[in-house]
Amino acid sequence: MTNSGSSAKYLLEAKSLCVSIDNKNILSSLSFSVAKGEVYALLGGNGAGKSSTLKTFLGFNLPSSGKVLIDGDEVNESLDKVRRKTAYLPENATLYPHLTARENVEYFLSLAEISKSQSEIDKAFERVSLQNDARDKQLQTFSKGMRQKTAIALAILRNAPIFLLDEPTSGLDPVAIDEFNNLVRELATSGATVLMVTHDVYGACQVANRIGLLRHGELVGQFEAKQNEKIDTELVHAAFAQRQTSEV
Ligand SMILES: Nc1ncnc2c1ncn2[C@@H]1O[C@H](COP(=O)(O)OP(=O)(O)OP(=O)(O)O)[C@@H](O)[C@H]1O
Ligand SMILES: [Mg+2]
Repeated sequence: MTNSGSSAKYLLEAKSLCVSIDNKNILSSLSFSVAKGEVYALLGGNGAGKSSTLKTFLGFNLPSSGKVLIDGDEVNESLDKVRRKTAYLPENATLYPHLTARENVEYFLSLAEISKSQSEIDKAFERVSLQNDARDKQLQTFSKGMRQKTAIALAILRNAPIFLLDEPTSGLDPVAIDEFNNLVRELATSGATVLMVTHDVYGACQVANRIGLLRHGELVGQFEAKQNEKIDTELVHAAFAQRQTSEV
């Protein structure tokens, strides 16, 4: 079933999602939802199933049962439509190293048949704090943080309302992590919906409205930020480290 295009209550939904690859259960009965303007962090250790969850939202993995929905549409029934609404940042953002930041953005916008003026492009670079003198340098000279800023600027220019981020802060220094988390919060405040997967407890607590704890493909705990408060890092860390099971 697909909806007619009007906004669903949740922009991202996993409903009793099971994914098996080569007869191995990767995700088991996973259910969670992310509302517009929310940042949801899926937290889990290596091999917990975080990237597999994102890949299922992108239509690269097929559910063996259950489903994933983007803005009310079942992903595998409306691939083109849902991908247009989605900006995916893989762990290593795949832009072209020999093109400048500006050329990368122009190239991917032209592929998507989106036309933007130079001042709109500069405005997007400004929003992600990519410095003026970096914009016309080749990406191969960029740090990971700068490559990610370029990828986010592109997503902003594509007007993608949904961001899927795979370990966006791994390999960034603490200042770049703070800057990135602030940018994610700013995107959410202006209406974007974000699903990020990470094993960084502190970062997840800084940025997320809700955290789901994933272990062996199962959601074993959920944490929600109370109004104007952040999720308690100690509590999440303890649950992550299996010192307790939590349902908050
Ligand atoms: N294409 C595949 N074929 C076989 N097994 C896979 C495939 N993709 C994922 N898996 C397995 O699924 C499990 C979850 O992998 P996934 O990459 O989703 O974990 P992750 O939480 O993203 O881990 P990491 O923190 O290391 O990135 C792992 O056991 C992995 O080996
Ligand atoms: Mg992964």
